[in-house]
Amino acid sequence: MPKVLINGVEKDVPVGTLVLDACEQAGIAIPHYCYHPVLSPVATCRMCMVEIKGMPKLATSCTTTVGPAPKDNPEGIAMEIITNSKAVADARAGVMEFLLLNHPLDCPICDQAGECKLQDYSYEYGSGDSRMGEVKRRYRYEDLGGKIVIDKNRCIHCTRCIRFTQEISGTHELTVAQRGANLEVTTYSGKSMDANPWAGNVVDLCPVGALTSRDFRFNRRVWYLKNIPTISRHSALANPIWADVDQNKVWRFRPRPTEGKTAVYFISDEERSACHDYNLKPETRLMKPSMKRVETSIVAIRAALQQAGPTAVIAQGVFGCDAAQRLGDLASKSEWRFGIGTKSYAIQLPKLQTHTDGIYNRRGFTERGFRFSMLDELEQLVKDGSVKALVLLYDAPFSNAKETERLKALIAAAPFSLVLESVASEIGDAATAGLPITTYLEENDFVTTHTGELRRYQKALEPPKGVKTVPLWVKELAKASAPVPAAV
Ligand code: SF4
Ligand code: FES
Repeated sequence: MPKVLINGVEKDVPVGTLVLDACEQAGIAIPHYCYHPVLSPVATCRMCMVEIKGMPKLATSCTTTVGPAPKDNPEGIAMEIITNSKAVADARAGVMEFLLLNHPLDCPICDQAGECKLQDYSYEYGSGDSRMGEVKRRYRYEDLGGKIVIDKNRCIHCTRCIRFTQEISGTHELTVAQRGANLEVTTYSGKSMDANPWAGNVVDLCPVGALTSRDFRFNRRVWYLKNIPTISRHSALANPIWADVDQNKVWRFRPRPTEGKTAVYFISDEERSACHDYNLKPETRLMKPSMKRVETSIVAIRAALQQAGPTAVIAQGVFGCDAAQRLGDLASKSEWRFGIGTKSYAIQLPKLQTHTDGIYNRRGFTERGFRFSMLDELEQLVKDGSVKALVLLYDAPFSNAKETERLKALIAAAPFSLVLESVASEIGDAATAGLPITTYLEENDFVTTHTGELRRYQKALEPPKGVKTVPLWVKELAKASAPVPAAV
């Protein structure tokens, strides 16, 4: 591995490493706009320039790679990089002044404020001065369909958004039009971004506030948001995402590219908008243990379950592994753990989506003894009276109508049934008893994806009083039974 000298400090990096990455690995942040790890390099912004000994001019670190060590000295230094010289500082200040020529000073009303690279780099590397005497160019903001809004005044022409539509989504809606001072990023005439089911990614990619989300803009200042690592329940591989929360509400989902893979840099619009599903209103969610939807106590449900007799458990493979483990403990026989769920996803972008099976923790449940596609066997066990009680872990969107009908028939046939869910469903309505459980954003747990990756998610929201996680309810249900209360 060749050695490079970065600001006088030696570092070993593989041949072909980008100078920008080599510096990052050495703990030296290089400011950049147009560079993105999974988009092709274009070196248009010039913000990442560094000095490289032997080169006549500053070089863009996003397109320069580390070469091999000198032939006559394999142990020698392959490249000497300087990032803290006056020449580099002057170049950065010059680029900042240039990029800000036409940029409005509208940070107080800009949605990007607080996570804007122009703000950050201006503060850190800018000169604080401008020689711009002319009137800045002005555009009105435009809707690029119903999902994305563009404010061209703020655009710095990094072309990240364009390269996304060319190289990742393949939809080609965005382009640069005009030349010179009139250069603008726009859609081909009349084209909106609505037909692109991954359009929201251009908002994340835009390093300034030029592209904003119709759904999120002006809703919350980003410095109020707490970023909680979680997963997407709306992708077959449980994509790692951030849940940005404030005031016990989730305001947006964003990709959490922690694994260096192209797929995890982007999420679909379906995954993005799913954040709204988890801000449950008190009137829509279950809050108390119930029997036939009449409020009761956990003591009564526990007694009824324990008196019912042999128990089988059923769960969709979209809950956490901890929940699966605890729920499985309720089954009277180890083979009486049944996995269900029918959700699947069409492959829209093969580069990003490699699996269609939306039951994203199928592997985690299987590893804990749950058997999928075995409802026939359970139906027989209920029919012949071997199984007297059913405990279901359920979330309606993950079963299709056919599976829901089969579950309803099973519940009707079993002497006792208990459904654990967050929001009332027809399955819960049909069951003997119900327990209100937390949503996945209200608990800590983990899943094992179809590719065997373990993905943890953290508690982002506080559940309402009385609503508990599956492990806590199972603990309550497993306690020794108290005498059944005389009246409920
Ligand atoms: S809109 Fe944003 S991402 Fe697109 S070119 Fe302009 S600054 Fe870059
Ligand atoms: S990041 Fe290197 S030129 Fe833009």
